[in-house]
Amino acid sequence: MTHLTLAALDTADLDALVIGVAAGPNGAEPAPGWDTADAACNGRLRQLLDLLGATGAPEEITLVPADPGSSVPLVVAAGLGRPNDAGRFDPEILRRVASAAVRALRGRGRVGLTLGLVNGSATEEDGQAVVEGALLGGYQFDRYRRDVDRRPSIREVVLLVPEARIAMLTPAADRGRLLAEAVHLTRDLVNMPASELHPASFADLALATSREAGLDGELLDNAALVEGGYGGILAVGAGSVHPPRMVCLSWRPPDPVATMALVGKGVTFDSGGLTLKPRDGLENQKKDMVGAASVLATVTAAARLNVPLTITAYLPMVENMPGGSAYRPGDILRMRNGLHVEVHNTDAEGRLILADGLARACEDRPDYVLCVASLTGAQRVALGHRTCGAMGDEKLTGRLAAAGRHTGEPIWPMPLPEDIGSQLESSVADLANWHPDTAGGMLLGGMFLSRFVTEGTSWAHLDIAGPSYHSGSPRGYLSSGATGTPVRALVRLLEDLSASSS
Ligand code: BES
Ligand code: ZN
Repeated sequence: MTHLTLAALDTADLDALVIGVAAGPNGAEPAPGWDTADAACNGRLRQLLDLLGATGAPEEITLVPADPGSSVPLVVAAGLGRPNDAGRFDPEILRRVASAAVRALRGRGRVGLTLGLVNGSATEEDGQAVVEGALLGGYQFDRYRRDVDRRPSIREVVLLVPEARIAMLTPAADRGRLLAEAVHLTRDLVNMPASELHPASFADLALATSREAGLDGELLDNAALVEGGYGGILAVGAGSVHPPRMVCLSWRPPDPVATMALVGKGVTFDSGGLTLKPRDGLENQKKDMVGAASVLATVTAAARLNVPLTITAYLPMVENMPGGSAYRPGDILRMRNGLHVEVHNTDAEGRLILADGLARACEDRPDYVLCVASLTGAQRVALGHRTCGAMGDEKLTGRLAAAGRHTGEPIWPMPLPEDIGSQLESSVADLANWHPDTAGGMLLGGMFLSRFVTEGTSWAHLDIAGPSYHSGSPRGYLSSGATGTPVRALVRLLEDLSASSS
Protein backbone atom coordinates (compact mmCIF):
# COMPACT_ATOMS: atom_id res chain seq x y z
CA MET A 1 0.00 0.00 0.00
CA THR A 2 1.11 3.55 -0.70
CA HIS A 3 2.93 5.14 2.22
CA LEU A 4 0.91 7.99 3.72
CA THR A 5 2.24 10.77 5.93
CA LEU A 6 1.07 14.13 7.30
CA ALA A 7 3.20 17.26 7.03
CA ALA A 8 2.95 21.02 7.15
CA LEU A 9 2.52 22.78 3.82
CA ASP A 10 5.91 22.65 2.13
CA THR A 11 6.49 21.76 -1.50
CA ALA A 12 10.17 20.77 -1.16
CA ASP A 13 10.93 17.26 -2.48
CA LEU A 14 7.49 16.75 -3.97
CA ASP A 15 7.05 15.28 -7.46
CA ALA A 16 3.59 16.81 -7.70
CA LEU A 17 1.27 19.04 -5.69
CA VAL A 18 -2.48 18.28 -5.80
CA ILE A 19 -4.89 21.06 -4.89
CA GLY A 20 -8.66 21.13 -4.99
CA VAL A 21 -10.43 23.58 -7.28
CA ALA A 22 -14.11 24.46 -7.01
CA ALA A 23 -16.55 24.69 -9.93
CA GLY A 24 -17.57 28.30 -10.58
CA PRO A 25 -19.66 29.99 -13.26
CA ASN A 26 -16.53 30.84 -15.23
CA GLY A 27 -14.51 27.67 -14.76
CA ALA A 28 -12.25 26.38 -12.00
CA GLU A 29 -12.10 28.60 -8.95
CA PRO A 30 -9.63 28.79 -6.08
CA ALA A 31 -10.18 26.52 -3.10
CA PRO A 32 -7.87 26.22 -0.08
CA GLY A 33 -4.30 25.48 -1.17
CA TRP A 34 -4.55 27.67 -4.24
CA ASP A 35 -1.89 30.22 -3.22
CA THR A 36 0.93 27.69 -2.92
CA ALA A 37 0.07 26.16 -6.27
CA ASP A 38 -0.28 29.59 -7.85
CA ALA A 39 3.17 30.54 -6.57
CA ALA A 40 4.58 27.36 -8.14
CA CYS A 41 3.10 28.54 -11.45
CA ASN A 42 4.56 32.00 -11.08
CA GLY A 43 1.10 33.53 -10.55
CA ARG A 44 -0.28 32.08 -13.79
CA LEU A 45 -2.39 29.23 -12.38
CA ARG A 46 -5.75 30.73 -13.27
CA GLN A 47 -4.60 31.57 -16.77
CA LEU A 48 -3.20 28.06 -17.30
CA LEU A 49 -6.33 26.36 -15.98
CA ASP A 50 -8.49 28.48 -18.29
CA LEU A 51 -6.24 27.60 -21.19
CA LEU A 52 -6.56 23.90 -20.40
CA GLY A 53 -10.35 24.17 -20.10
CA ALA A 54 -10.56 23.19 -16.41
CA THR A 55 -14.08 23.57 -15.00
CA GLY A 56 -13.65 22.32 -11.42
CA ALA A 57 -16.25 19.57 -12.00
CA PRO A 58 -16.05 16.72 -9.45
CA GLU A 59 -13.16 14.33 -10.13
CA GLU A 60 -11.86 16.38 -13.08
CA ILE A 61 -8.05 16.19 -13.03
CA THR A 62 -5.95 18.83 -14.82
CA LEU A 63 -2.16 18.50 -14.91
CA VAL A 64 -0.31 21.83 -15.06
CA PRO A 65 3.48 21.97 -15.48
CA ALA A 66 4.86 24.31 -12.80
CA ASP A 67 7.28 27.16 -13.41
CA PRO A 68 10.80 25.82 -14.14
CA GLY A 69 12.16 27.71 -11.13
CA SER A 70 9.59 26.25 -8.73
CA SER A 71 10.35 23.67 -6.04
CA VAL A 72 7.67 21.32 -7.39
CA PRO A 73 7.57 20.27 -11.06
CA LEU A 74 3.85 19.57 -11.44
CA VAL A 75 0.64 21.13 -10.14
CA VAL A 76 -2.53 19.04 -10.29
CA ALA A 77 -5.91 20.75 -10.07
CA ALA A 78 -8.54 18.30 -8.83
CA GLY A 79 -12.17 19.35 -9.33
CA LEU A 80 -14.29 19.36 -6.16
CA GLY A 81 -17.52 20.62 -7.73
CA ARG A 82 -19.63 23.23 -5.97
CA PRO A 83 -19.25 23.68 -2.21
CA ASN A 84 -22.39 23.33 -0.08
CA ASP A 85 -24.09 26.29 1.60
CA ALA A 86 -21.57 26.18 4.44
CA GLY A 87 -18.76 26.47 1.88
CA ARG A 88 -17.65 22.88 2.52
CA PHE A 89 -17.24 19.77 0.40
CA ASP A 90 -18.90 16.47 1.27
CA PRO A 91 -16.49 13.81 2.63
CA GLU A 92 -17.68 11.44 -0.11
CA ILE A 93 -16.54 13.97 -2.73
CA LEU A 94 -13.17 14.34 -0.99
CA ARG A 95 -12.83 10.54 -1.04
CA ARG A 96 -13.58 10.28 -4.75
CA VAL A 97 -11.45 13.24 -5.76
CA ALA A 98 -8.44 12.05 -3.74
CA SER A 99 -8.80 8.70 -5.52
CA ALA A 100 -9.03 10.22 -8.97
CA ALA A 101 -5.91 12.34 -8.32
CA VAL A 102 -3.88 9.43 -7.02
CA ARG A 103 -4.88 7.29 -9.99
CA ALA A 104 -3.90 10.02 -12.44
CA LEU A 105 -0.46 10.26 -10.82
CA ARG A 106 0.31 6.55 -10.74
CA GLY A 107 4.03 5.87 -11.00
CA ARG A 108 5.17 9.10 -9.29
CA GLY A 109 7.34 9.07 -6.21
CA ARG A 110 6.18 11.61 -3.62
CA VAL A 111 2.94 13.50 -4.07
CA GLY A 112 1.57 16.27 -1.83
CA LEU A 113 -2.19 16.57 -1.40
CA THR A 114 -3.93 19.61 0.06
CA LEU A 115 -7.51 19.01 -1.17
CA GLY A 116 -9.37 21.30 1.15
CA LEU A 117 -7.35 20.15 4.16
CA VAL A 118 -5.33 23.35 4.36
CA ASN A 119 -8.64 25.00 5.15
CA GLY A 120 -8.50 25.93 8.82
CA SER A 121 -11.96 24.42 9.35
CA ALA A 122 -11.16 20.99 7.90
CA THR A 123 -12.62 18.33 10.19
CA GLU A 124 -11.32 14.95 11.26
CA GLU A 125 -13.96 13.40 9.02
CA ASP A 126 -12.53 15.34 6.04
CA GLY A 127 -9.02 14.14 6.88
CA GLN A 128 -10.15 10.54 7.17
CA ALA A 129 -12.05 10.78 3.88
CA VAL A 130 -9.01 12.08 1.98
CA VAL A 131 -6.82 9.33 3.41
CA GLU A 132 -9.35 6.64 2.55
CA GLY A 133 -9.74 7.99 -0.97
CA ALA A 134 -6.00 8.36 -1.59
CA LEU A 135 -5.26 4.82 -0.43
CA LEU A 136 -8.28 3.13 -2.04
CA GLY A 137 -7.64 4.90 -5.36
CA GLY A 138 -4.07 3.58 -5.41
CA TYR A 139 -5.18 -0.04 -5.12
CA GLN A 140 -4.43 -2.43 -7.92
CA PHE A 141 -4.37 -6.19 -7.95
CA ASP A 142 -1.01 -6.66 -9.64
CA ARG A 143 0.61 -9.66 -8.06
CA TYR A 144 0.22 -11.71 -11.26
CA ARG A 145 1.42 -9.00 -13.69
CA ARG A 146 4.92 -8.62 -15.04
CA ASP A 147 4.26 -6.28 -17.97
CA VAL A 148 7.22 -3.96 -18.37
CA ASP A 149 5.41 -0.65 -18.46
CA ARG A 150 3.13 -1.33 -15.55
CA ARG A 151 2.90 1.76 -13.41
CA PRO A 152 3.02 1.11 -9.69
CA SER A 153 1.02 3.12 -7.18
CA ILE A 154 2.47 6.36 -5.88
CA ARG A 155 5.29 5.64 -3.43
CA GLU A 156 4.30 8.24 -0.88
CA VAL A 157 1.30 10.53 -0.44
CA VAL A 158 1.87 13.47 1.89
CA LEU A 159 -1.22 15.16 3.27
CA LEU A 160 -0.34 18.83 3.51
CA VAL A 161 -2.15 20.44 6.43
CA PRO A 162 -1.58 23.48 8.64
CA GLU A 163 1.15 22.76 11.22
CA ALA A 164 -1.25 23.46 14.09
CA ARG A 165 -3.69 20.80 12.87
CA ILE A 166 -1.27 17.92 12.43
CA ALA A 167 -1.91 16.59 15.94
CA MET A 168 -5.68 16.74 15.48
CA LEU A 169 -5.67 15.10 12.06
CA THR A 170 -3.18 12.31 12.88
CA PRO A 171 -5.72 9.98 14.59
CA ALA A 172 -8.17 10.58 11.73
CA ALA A 173 -5.47 9.67 9.20
CA ASP A 174 -4.63 6.52 11.19
CA ARG A 175 -8.30 5.54 11.14
CA GLY A 176 -8.50 6.14 7.40
CA ARG A 177 -5.41 4.01 6.87
CA LEU A 178 -6.78 1.17 9.00
CA LEU A 179 -10.09 1.16 7.13
CA ALA A 180 -8.31 1.27 3.76
CA GLU A 181 -6.28 -1.74 4.85
CA ALA A 182 -9.50 -3.60 5.69
CA VAL A 183 -10.90 -2.78 2.25
CA HIS A 184 -7.65 -3.85 0.57
CA LEU A 185 -7.71 -7.16 2.44
CA THR A 186 -11.23 -7.82 1.14
CA ARG A 187 -10.28 -6.82 -2.40
CA ASP A 188 -7.16 -9.01 -2.40
CA LEU A 189 -9.02 -12.09 -1.16
CA VAL A 190 -11.89 -11.66 -3.63
CA ASN A 191 -9.60 -10.95 -6.57
CA MET A 192 -7.54 -14.09 -5.92
CA PRO A 193 -8.31 -16.89 -8.37
CA ALA A 194 -10.32 -19.80 -7.03
CA SER A 195 -7.46 -22.14 -7.97
CA GLU A 196 -5.46 -20.54 -5.14
CA LEU A 197 -8.19 -19.50 -2.77
CA HIS A 198 -10.13 -22.66 -1.93
CA PRO A 199 -11.70 -23.51 1.43
CA ALA A 200 -8.50 -24.78 3.07
CA SER A 201 -6.25 -21.90 1.92
CA PHE A 202 -8.95 -19.32 2.66
CA ALA A 203 -9.36 -20.73 6.17
CA ASP A 204 -5.60 -20.60 6.78
CA LEU A 205 -5.43 -16.99 5.58
CA ALA A 206 -8.43 -15.99 7.69
CA LEU A 207 -6.95 -17.54 10.82
CA ALA A 208 -3.49 -16.02 10.26
CA THR A 209 -4.89 -12.53 9.54
CA SER A 210 -7.23 -12.49 12.50
CA ARG A 211 -4.61 -13.87 14.90
CA GLU A 212 -2.39 -10.88 14.11
CA ALA A 213 -5.26 -8.59 15.17
CA GLY A 214 -5.66 -10.39 18.51
CA LEU A 215 -8.70 -12.56 17.71
CA ASP A 216 -9.23 -16.14 18.83
CA GLY A 217 -9.79 -18.56 15.98
CA GLU A 218 -11.23 -22.04 15.61
CA LEU A 219 -11.12 -24.21 12.51
CA LEU A 220 -13.80 -26.80 11.74
CA ASP A 221 -12.61 -29.28 9.11
CA ASN A 222 -14.80 -31.78 7.27
CA ALA A 223 -14.82 -34.24 10.18
CA ALA A 224 -15.76 -31.50 12.65
CA LEU A 225 -18.56 -30.35 10.35
CA VAL A 226 -19.91 -33.93 10.21
CA GLU A 227 -19.65 -34.16 13.98
CA GLY A 228 -21.47 -30.81 14.36
CA GLY A 229 -24.33 -31.72 12.01
CA TYR A 230 -23.70 -28.94 9.50
CA GLY A 231 -25.72 -30.59 6.73
CA GLY A 232 -25.94 -27.52 4.50
CA ILE A 233 -22.21 -26.79 4.43
CA LEU A 234 -21.36 -30.48 3.90
CA ALA A 235 -23.83 -30.90 1.04
CA VAL A 236 -22.72 -27.82 -0.89
CA GLY A 237 -19.05 -28.72 -0.42
CA ALA A 238 -19.47 -32.37 -1.38
CA GLY A 239 -18.88 -32.00 -5.14
CA SER A 240 -15.44 -30.43 -4.86
CA VAL A 241 -12.03 -32.02 -4.38
CA HIS A 242 -11.47 -29.23 -1.83
CA PRO A 243 -13.49 -30.21 1.24
CA PRO A 244 -15.42 -27.53 3.16
CA ARG A 245 -14.33 -25.68 6.28
CA MET A 246 -15.80 -23.33 8.80
CA VAL A 247 -13.72 -20.70 10.56
CA CYS A 248 -15.03 -19.17 13.80
CA LEU A 249 -13.35 -15.99 15.02
CA SER A 250 -13.91 -14.20 18.29
CA TRP A 251 -13.10 -10.69 19.39
CA ARG A 252 -13.51 -10.40 23.16
CA PRO A 253 -12.84 -6.90 24.47
CA PRO A 254 -12.45 -6.44 28.23
CA ASP A 255 -15.75 -4.59 28.89
CA PRO A 256 -18.20 -5.42 26.11
CA VAL A 257 -21.47 -3.50 25.96
CA ALA A 258 -23.25 -6.01 23.70
CA THR A 259 -22.69 -9.17 21.65
CA MET A 260 -22.79 -9.46 17.88
CA ALA A 261 -22.53 -12.45 15.55
CA LEU A 262 -21.49 -12.02 11.93
CA VAL A 263 -21.96 -14.74 9.32
CA GLY A 264 -20.31 -14.43 5.88
CA LYS A 265 -20.88 -16.48 2.74
CA GLY A 266 -17.59 -18.09 1.70
CA VAL A 267 -18.23 -19.89 -1.61
CA THR A 268 -14.73 -19.83 -3.13
CA PHE A 269 -16.17 -20.71 -6.54
CA ASP A 270 -19.82 -21.01 -7.49
CA SER A 271 -20.22 -23.13 -10.60
CA GLY A 272 -23.87 -23.63 -9.66
CA GLY A 273 -23.13 -27.31 -8.94
CA LEU A 274 -25.23 -29.84 -10.89
CA THR A 275 -27.65 -26.99 -11.65
CA LEU A 276 -24.67 -25.67 -13.62
CA LYS A 277 -24.57 -22.00 -14.48
CA PRO A 278 -24.51 -21.05 -18.17
CA ARG A 279 -21.24 -19.71 -19.67
CA ASP A 280 -21.78 -16.04 -18.85
CA GLY A 281 -23.01 -16.80 -15.34
CA LEU A 282 -19.72 -18.54 -14.49
CA GLU A 283 -17.73 -15.39 -15.18
CA ASN A 284 -16.30 -13.90 -11.96
CA GLN A 285 -17.89 -16.46 -9.63
CA LYS A 286 -14.59 -16.60 -7.75
CA LYS A 287 -16.06 -13.56 -6.00
CA ASP A 288 -18.73 -15.57 -4.23
CA MET A 289 -16.72 -15.64 -0.98
CA VAL A 290 -16.96 -11.86 -0.65
CA GLY A 291 -19.35 -12.08 2.31
CA ALA A 292 -16.82 -14.10 4.32
CA ALA A 293 -13.94 -11.84 3.22
CA SER A 294 -15.94 -8.74 4.22
CA VAL A 295 -16.79 -10.20 7.62
CA LEU A 296 -13.14 -11.18 8.18
CA ALA A 297 -11.96 -7.66 7.31
CA THR A 298 -14.68 -6.10 9.47
CA VAL A 299 -14.02 -8.11 12.58
CA THR A 300 -10.23 -7.61 12.36
CA ALA A 301 -10.73 -3.86 11.86
CA ALA A 302 -13.13 -3.77 14.83
CA ALA A 303 -10.51 -5.49 16.98
CA ARG A 304 -7.80 -3.08 15.87
CA LEU A 305 -10.14 -0.19 16.68
CA ASN A 306 -10.92 -1.75 20.04
CA VAL A 307 -14.69 -1.68 19.47
CA PRO A 308 -16.32 -2.65 22.81
CA LEU A 309 -18.57 -5.37 21.39
CA THR A 310 -18.03 -9.10 21.73
CA ILE A 311 -18.00 -10.17 18.09
CA THR A 312 -18.10 -13.72 16.83
CA ALA A 313 -17.66 -14.33 13.12
CA TYR A 314 -18.76 -17.54 11.42
CA LEU A 315 -17.26 -18.12 8.01
CA PRO A 316 -18.52 -21.24 6.19
CA MET A 317 -16.22 -21.95 3.23
CA VAL A 318 -17.10 -24.27 0.34
CA GLU A 319 -16.49 -24.73 -3.36
CA ASN A 320 -19.76 -25.43 -5.20
CA MET A 321 -18.84 -27.93 -7.93
CA PRO A 322 -20.66 -30.56 -9.98
CA GLY A 323 -18.43 -33.56 -9.10
CA GLY A 324 -19.49 -37.20 -8.86
CA SER A 325 -20.13 -36.77 -5.17
CA ALA A 326 -22.01 -33.49 -5.59
CA TYR A 327 -25.35 -32.91 -3.87
CA ARG A 328 -28.36 -33.16 -6.17
CA PRO A 329 -31.75 -31.60 -6.76
CA GLY A 330 -34.14 -33.76 -4.75
CA ASP A 331 -31.71 -34.35 -1.89
CA ILE A 332 -33.08 -33.66 1.57
CA LEU A 333 -30.58 -32.10 3.98
CA ARG A 334 -30.70 -32.15 7.75
CA MET A 335 -29.41 -28.76 8.84
CA ARG A 336 -27.54 -27.74 11.99
CA ASN A 337 -30.77 -26.70 13.74
CA GLY A 338 -32.59 -29.94 12.85
CA LEU A 339 -34.76 -28.49 10.07
CA HIS A 340 -34.87 -30.48 6.81
CA VAL A 341 -34.41 -28.72 3.48
CA GLU A 342 -35.39 -30.10 0.09
CA VAL A 343 -32.89 -29.06 -2.59
CA HIS A 344 -34.47 -27.91 -5.83
CA ASN A 345 -31.57 -25.97 -7.26
CA THR A 346 -27.93 -26.53 -6.31
CA ASP A 347 -27.13 -22.97 -7.42
CA ALA A 348 -29.13 -21.63 -4.47
CA GLU A 349 -26.27 -22.85 -2.28
CA GLY A 350 -25.40 -19.68 -0.38
CA ARG A 351 -28.54 -19.84 1.75
CA LEU A 352 -27.72 -23.44 2.71
CA ILE A 353 -24.28 -22.69 4.11
CA LEU A 354 -25.46 -19.44 5.73
CA ALA A 355 -28.40 -21.25 7.33
CA ASP A 356 -26.00 -23.55 9.17
CA GLY A 357 -23.84 -20.57 10.13
CA LEU A 358 -26.86 -18.62 11.37
CA ALA A 359 -28.21 -21.55 13.38
CA ARG A 360 -24.80 -21.97 15.00
CA ALA A 361 -24.51 -18.23 15.68
CA CYS A 362 -27.93 -18.13 17.37
CA GLU A 363 -26.94 -20.91 19.77
CA ASP A 364 -24.84 -18.36 21.69
CA ARG A 365 -27.85 -16.00 21.98
CA PRO A 366 -26.09 -12.85 20.71
CA ASP A 367 -27.87 -9.48 20.89
CA TYR A 368 -27.44 -8.93 17.15
CA VAL A 369 -26.88 -11.24 14.20
CA LEU A 370 -25.89 -10.03 10.76
CA CYS A 371 -25.22 -12.11 7.69
CA VAL A 372 -23.40 -10.79 4.66
CA ALA A 373 -23.52 -12.51 1.28
CA SER A 374 -23.41 -12.25 -2.49
CA LEU A 375 -26.63 -14.20 -2.36
CA THR A 376 -28.65 -13.44 -5.48
CA GLY A 377 -28.38 -12.03 -8.97
CA ALA A 378 -31.85 -10.65 -8.17
CA GLN A 379 -30.21 -8.11 -5.85
CA ARG A 380 -28.72 -6.39 -8.89
CA VAL A 381 -32.03 -6.51 -10.72
CA ALA A 382 -33.77 -4.84 -7.77
CA LEU A 383 -31.15 -2.29 -6.69
CA GLY A 384 -28.48 -2.01 -9.37
CA HIS A 385 -24.72 -2.10 -9.13
CA ARG A 386 -24.15 0.23 -6.18
CA THR A 387 -26.86 -0.34 -3.57
CA CYS A 388 -26.84 -3.28 -1.16
CA GLY A 389 -30.18 -4.75 -0.03
CA ALA A 390 -30.82 -5.14 3.70
CA MET A 391 -33.55 -7.40 5.08
CA GLY A 392 -34.66 -8.36 8.58
CA ASP A 393 -35.22 -6.43 11.80
CA GLU A 394 -36.19 -2.87 10.85
CA LYS A 395 -34.07 -1.31 13.55
CA LEU A 396 -30.97 -3.08 12.35
CA THR A 397 -31.62 -2.48 8.63
CA GLY A 398 -32.23 1.21 9.42
CA ARG A 399 -28.92 1.39 11.24
CA LEU A 400 -27.19 -0.35 8.35
CA ALA A 401 -28.63 2.23 5.96
CA ALA A 402 -27.46 5.07 8.21
CA ALA A 403 -23.96 3.60 8.45
CA GLY A 404 -23.83 3.28 4.66
CA ARG A 405 -24.86 6.91 4.22
CA HIS A 406 -21.85 7.93 6.29
CA THR A 407 -19.35 5.85 4.36
CA GLY A 408 -20.69 6.39 0.84
CA GLU A 409 -21.86 2.76 0.53
CA PRO A 410 -25.62 2.85 -0.14
CA ILE A 411 -27.67 0.22 1.71
CA TRP A 412 -31.44 0.06 1.22
CA PRO A 413 -33.92 -1.65 3.58
CA MET A 414 -36.12 -4.20 1.78
CA PRO A 415 -39.20 -6.12 3.01
CA LEU A 416 -39.62 -9.80 3.84
CA PRO A 417 -43.18 -10.37 2.58
CA GLU A 418 -45.13 -13.39 3.81
CA ASP A 419 -46.55 -14.14 0.34
CA ILE A 420 -43.04 -14.72 -0.93
CA GLY A 421 -42.25 -16.82 2.14
CA SER A 422 -44.96 -19.26 1.08
CA GLN A 423 -42.74 -20.18 -1.88
CA LEU A 424 -40.49 -22.02 0.56
CA GLU A 425 -43.06 -24.78 1.11
CA SER A 426 -41.97 -28.33 0.33
CA SER A 427 -44.14 -31.46 0.24
CA VAL A 428 -41.37 -33.68 1.61
CA ALA A 429 -39.30 -31.47 3.94
CA ASP A 430 -39.67 -28.51 6.30
CA LEU A 431 -38.76 -26.11 3.52
CA ALA A 432 -37.39 -25.90 -0.03
CA ASN A 433 -34.30 -23.93 -1.07
CA TRP A 434 -35.76 -22.59 -4.33
CA HIS A 435 -38.93 -21.73 -6.25
CA PRO A 436 -39.27 -21.29 -10.02
CA ASP A 437 -40.92 -17.89 -9.66
CA THR A 438 -37.96 -15.51 -9.92
CA ALA A 439 -39.92 -12.35 -8.95
CA GLY A 440 -38.52 -10.94 -5.70
CA GLY A 441 -35.64 -13.43 -5.72
CA MET A 442 -33.58 -11.40 -3.25
CA LEU A 443 -36.46 -11.40 -0.77
CA LEU A 444 -36.97 -15.15 -1.05
CA GLY A 445 -33.31 -15.61 -0.09
CA GLY A 446 -33.91 -13.42 2.96
CA MET A 447 -37.08 -15.33 3.90
CA PHE A 448 -35.21 -18.64 3.72
CA LEU A 449 -32.48 -17.37 6.04
CA SER A 450 -35.01 -15.96 8.52
CA ARG A 451 -36.15 -19.54 9.26
CA PHE A 452 -32.77 -20.25 10.82
CA VAL A 453 -32.75 -17.31 13.20
CA THR A 454 -33.95 -17.85 16.75
CA GLU A 455 -37.17 -15.96 17.53
CA GLY A 456 -36.52 -12.64 19.24
CA THR A 457 -32.97 -12.15 17.90
CA SER A 458 -32.24 -8.81 16.25
CA TRP A 459 -31.16 -10.08 12.84
CA ALA A 460 -30.42 -8.62 9.42
CA HIS A 461 -29.21 -10.02 6.12
CA LEU A 462 -27.23 -7.95 3.66
CA ASP A 463 -27.21 -9.00 -0.02
CA ILE A 464 -24.10 -7.47 -1.60
CA ALA A 465 -23.98 -9.43 -4.89
CA GLY A 466 -23.75 -6.35 -7.15
CA PRO A 467 -21.97 -3.63 -5.12
CA SER A 468 -19.17 -5.91 -3.94
CA TYR A 469 -17.79 -6.26 -7.47
CA HIS A 470 -17.09 -3.69 -10.15
CA SER A 471 -16.75 -5.06 -13.68
CA GLY A 472 -15.88 -1.77 -15.42
CA SER A 473 -12.77 0.39 -15.35
CA PRO A 474 -11.84 2.15 -12.09
CA ARG A 475 -14.27 4.87 -10.99
CA GLY A 476 -14.23 7.08 -7.92
CA TYR A 477 -12.48 4.97 -5.32
CA LEU A 478 -13.71 1.73 -6.85
CA SER A 479 -11.00 -0.32 -8.51
CA SER A 480 -11.82 -2.91 -11.17
CA GLY A 481 -12.86 -6.22 -9.63
CA ALA A 482 -13.59 -6.47 -5.92
CA THR A 483 -14.69 -3.16 -4.37
CA GLY A 484 -14.48 -3.97 -0.65
CA THR A 485 -18.04 -2.65 -0.27
CA PRO A 486 -19.56 -2.58 2.39
CA VAL A 487 -16.68 -3.13 4.86
CA ARG A 488 -16.39 0.51 5.95
CA ALA A 489 -20.16 0.65 6.56
CA LEU A 490 -20.03 -2.55 8.61
CA VAL A 491 -17.28 -1.17 10.84
CA ARG A 492 -19.31 2.01 11.24
CA LEU A 493 -22.37 -0.05 12.20
CA LEU A 494 -20.42 -1.88 14.89
CA GLU A 495 -19.15 1.41 16.29
CA ASP A 496 -22.66 2.92 16.22
CA LEU A 497 -24.15 -0.13 17.95
CA SER A 498 -21.50 -0.09 20.66
CA ALA A 499 -22.03 3.65 21.23
CA SER A 500 -25.80 3.26 21.59
CA SER A 501 -25.63 0.10 23.72
CA SER A 502 -23.31 1.51 26.38
N1 BES B 1 -23.40 -16.62 -6.45
C1 BES B 1 -24.74 -16.43 -6.83
C2 BES B 1 -25.23 -15.00 -6.71
C3 BES B 1 -24.61 -14.04 -7.68
C4 BES B 1 -25.04 -14.00 -8.97
C5 BES B 1 -23.67 -13.17 -7.23
C6 BES B 1 -24.50 -13.08 -9.84
C7 BES B 1 -23.13 -12.24 -8.09
C8 BES B 1 -23.56 -12.20 -9.40
C9 BES B 1 -25.69 -17.30 -6.01
O1 BES B 1 -25.17 -18.39 -5.39
C10 BES B 1 -26.67 -17.80 -7.01
O2 BES B 1 -26.29 -18.55 -7.84
N2 BES B 1 -27.90 -17.35 -6.86
C11 BES B 1 -28.94 -17.76 -7.74
C12 BES B 1 -30.14 -17.98 -6.87
C13 BES B 1 -31.25 -18.69 -7.57
C14 BES B 1 -30.85 -20.07 -8.01
C15 BES B 1 -32.41 -18.72 -6.62
C16 BES B 1 -29.20 -16.66 -8.77
O3 BES B 1 -29.09 -15.49 -8.42
O4 BES B 1 -29.44 -16.99 -9.90
ZN1 ZN C 1 -25.19 -20.16 -6.68
